[in-house]
Amino acid sequence: MNGIGIAFTGSGSAAPAHILDNGTLSQIVETSDEWIADRTGIRQRHLAQPQESLKTIAVEAAQKALDMANIQPMDVDLIILATSTPDDLFGTASQIQAELGAMKAVAFDLTAACSGFVFGLVTAAQFIRTGVYQNVLVIGGDLLSRWTDWSDRRTCVLFGDGAGAVVMQANLECDRLLGFELRSDGTQNNCLTLAYQAQPKTLIEPVTIGQGSFQFIQMNGQEVYRFAVRKVPEVIEKALFRANLSVEQVDWLVLHQANQRILDAVADRLGIPSEKVISNMARYGNTSAASIPIALDEAVRSGKIKSGDAIATSGFGAGLTWGAAVFRWGR
Ligand code: UT7
Repeated sequence: MNGIGIAFTGSGSAAPAHILDNGTLSQIVETSDEWIADRTGIRQRHLAQPQESLKTIAVEAAQKALDMANIQPMDVDLIILATSTPDDLFGTASQIQAELGAMKAVAFDLTAACSGFVFGLVTAAQFIRTGVYQNVLVIGGDLLSRWTDWSDRRTCVLFGDGAGAVVMQANLECDRLLGFELRSDGTQNNCLTLAYQAQPKTLIEPVTIGQGSFQFIQMNGQEVYRFAVRKVPEVIEKALFRANLSVEQVDWLVLHQANQRILDAVADRLGIPSEKVISNMARYGNTSAASIPIALDEAVRSGKIKSGDAIATSGFGAGLTWGAAVFRWGR
């Protein structure tokens, strides 16, 4: 091995206690448990109540990941929070840093929607590989319920709230991050948006500024579905090529939990059997940047994913953005 390698030493996850199942949701919009389960695989989602924050849920996930990695908050050099739903538009990562007591760490938010965790993981790897930082906490957390139009049945049935975290550490003996590929295509931005809309406000003639608010999530579901099924296998194949690994050597496929049909179609296109596909969609819905680290953490804690297992992960979503990473779990 040349240079500094990367180890994946801890994971953690958390979600709000409050659960909304499909049956109850069908009292809010015209839908049914059958439609939602058939089309998406989702049965319920966790929703944050008004007094809950992204910070509290992310801190819980992060603390569990640090405990598993057996490192103290003061040992953390960098915290990356992948989110599109910060508690504060100036950033929420530093609030998490303070709450954890990780006072030596530098902390910042990273926005790449549902691809955020994979983008965060790859960003963290660059800091480790260049020798700048040794211990990095990558958190993916989103409370999309805040920005969901709860009268739009085409979107509100999909999303849930949560956070997941992973500890990545420098390792001089072995490199567990084997390959990655990140992509974006802003020409298709309008397929999935949580967009700011300005209201003109005249301060004094002729000075007018825009002062509005963010609009609810809008999505062209069919376009996003087509994009995911086409692009995700491509990007995983590229990451596997860089990792010098064949599809057969992948132990676990941990995809962004957007829709069970997308997971099945991607696995099918790659030729990965369903036993190797991690899915917790039924219980969480689509938790955006949190979905991959929550799924990963549950699989690690249940003993499914073991040290040394090869994981192919891929996030995809708004931007449009998408990306894949291939790594082995553990030190
Ligand atoms: O994390 C970001 C990435 N996002 C995604 O990956 C989402 C990708 N897209 C999807 O997962 C799917 O497109 C959806 C689950 C959003 C929708 O599934 P679909 O099979 O593409 O359904 P559709 O939009 O084609 O709608 C089919 C029918 C329509 O009725 P008509 O026009 O055929 O009469 C919809 O009005 O289903 C209707 N429909 C619903 N019915 C009951 C749409 N939403 C609902 C609903 N309950 N919640």
